[in-house]
Amino acid sequence: MAGIDNKVAIITGSGGGIGGAIALRYAREGAKLALADIVAETAKSRASEINAMGGDAFAIATDVTNKDSVRQMAHATLERWGRIDILVNVAGGADRKPVVEMTETDWDHIVNMNLKSVFLCCQAVIPAMLKQKSGKIVSISSIYGFTGNATRSSYAAAKAGVAVFTKSLALEVAKEGISVNAIAPGRVSTPRVRGHYSDEQWAEAVALIPAGRAGTPDEVASTALFLVSDENRYITGQTIHVNGAWLNW
Ligand SMILES: NC(=O)c1ccc[n+]([C@@H]2O[C@H](COP(=O)([O-])OP(=O)(O)OC[C@H]3O[C@@H](n4cnc5c(N)ncnc54)[C@H](O)[C@@H]3O)[C@@H](O)[C@H]2O)c1
Repeated sequence: MAGIDNKVAIITGSGGGIGGAIALRYAREGAKLALADIVAETAKSRASEINAMGGDAFAIATDVTNKDSVRQMAHATLERWGRIDILVNVAGGADRKPVVEMTETDWDHIVNMNLKSVFLCCQAVIPAMLKQKSGKIVSISSIYGFTGNATRSSYAAAKAGVAVFTKSLALEVAKEGISVNAIAPGRVSTPRVRGHYSDEQWAEAVALIPAGRAGTPDEVASTALFLVSDENRYITGQTIHVNGAWLNW
């Protein structure tokens, strides 16, 4: 067991591919789960699936770019269980547009969804973690935050921001017993990502990965479990790359 039995975890983007895999993995380890997503139905069906397995989860409609909505997410979790042990920032997504065509609104949308969201969610849970003198935070960055990516500049910049925000926050709260880490996945075969490629394009994209295949959501979940488990007591401020050696930077 990972030592997260009865720990209270908030997972944003939990209706999606990677967030859903993390939720299921934590549920199997006995964590109590607040499942946040802007698409309430997907988070609800994930919570029902977990509760039907004998777990303890509830869904909460949350827009992670909105401060009031994020505060409400933390408040509802504290009302239900009185503590917050783990926050996993998964909500995010990309858009493709060359810089010369990108509007200010396009930029703000992607940067708010991927970076401001991480700031707002961390800020909302840290007071509870400070009181407890313990807490574990994991945020999902991306390989593109390290390589850059043509047509995904706003996304790449936001995900690089997640890695450096992670280091900075880790420095601020290390003495308080709170760890803050990130995971930078390479290509992960979630329905959203796979849906952007034809079979032929997918085969070409996967051929670029030295491991010869895309990662699975469950492989990201394994790392997200390790980082919040009892097995991790001293890693903080780090971004762990999960990418099958797709290290082209
Ligand atoms: N799949 C990959 O190849 C890959 C690679 C690197 C990084 N990532 C990152 O991993 C995370 C999950 O990706 P995924 O492939 O599972 O995508 P996904 O689309 O399946 O999941 C993202 C979830 O975030 C939710 N969301 C979006 N905006 C939100 C908002 N404002 N408030 C609350 N929830 C919101 C969506 O409804 C969705 O359920 C993202 O941050 C993504 O950038 C994915």
